[in-house]
Amino acid sequence: MIETAAIGELRAWRRAQREQGRRVAFVPTMGALHEGHLALVDEARRQADSTVMSVFVNPLQFGPAEDLARYPRNLDRDRALARERGVNLLFVPEAATMYPPGSEVRVVPGPTADRWEGAVRPGHFAGVLTVVAKLFHLVEPDVACFGQKDIQQVTLVRRMVVDLDWPLRLAVVPTVREPDGLALSSRNVYLSAEERAQALGLSRSLDAAREAFAGGERSAAALEARMHGVLEVYPGVSPDYISIVEPERLTPVDTVEHGTVVAIAARVGRTRLIDNLILGER
Ligand code: PAJ
Repeated sequence: MIETAAIGELRAWRRAQREQGRRVAFVPTMGALHEGHLALVDEARRQADSTVMSVFVNPLQFGPAEDLARYPRNLDRDRALARERGVNLLFVPEAATMYPPGSEVRVVPGPTADRWEGAVRPGHFAGVLTVVAKLFHLVEPDVACFGQKDIQQVTLVRRMVVDLDWPLRLAVVPTVREPDGLALSSRNVYLSAEERAQALGLSRSLDAAREAFAGGERSAAALEARMHGVLEVYPGVSPDYISIVEPERLTPVDTVEHGTVVAIAARVGRTRLIDNLILGER
């Protein structure tokens, strides 16, 4: 595995891949790797000949009151996991490389960025799309892999790829979970044992929605009521929102169908967690 912080070296490697006729898949991350990130690497390896992973804690997507300073970082461990899993090039840029003094142009997402996560985290998705756009330009991937876990991020990256005519394909990987159902997240390390037990409320409430749908329920309000019913058993979970939405623009629906997205964001202690499911899928 090659590791570099230098744009020039990344570009030279990319050129060589093209000359050798090798297709490149890209997995952008903020590090603190877990099996969710590594499932993206597995998908990347299925989709292309070479895999690039980036590890960059992007300051632009953190709000002033958010956890940028304490976001978990462990490059030694990330490097070992990436190598073991078959990453070919690990790109670990410095903040000053991505945003040199004087840099000011940003990607403006559309209104789909204003709801849900965007409403709670103003500017977050402009930060995400800006760094993803830069990384796409640097890596020039044939395929880019993202996790369904961050479903609004996937929706917005897809919009950017379509609206800006990016010549690449997105691969969306299902959420990897702990055996009890908790979605893997770099932020799970913030949870105390008690909070970890409460955090199960998110996936349990989604399970209830899935089961109700499988049982024939088609009312979004009824699904949401079921979810709130489950959350009563998890008083440590304070929901920011439960959204039952169509997958293109994430606008609310009254009647659910195959493909409708059910998403939840909640605070457990000081930690903010998100999870979702697509009705009719596992
Ligand atoms: P990060 O939170 O590190 O996540 C990197 C990728 O891993 C994202 O595509 C995310 O959806 C995926 N992922 C996280 N948890 C997952 C899980 N349990 N199962 C499957 N996939 C999972 O998302 C970001 O970083 C950043 O916003 C980034 C895109 C890198 C831009 O800075």
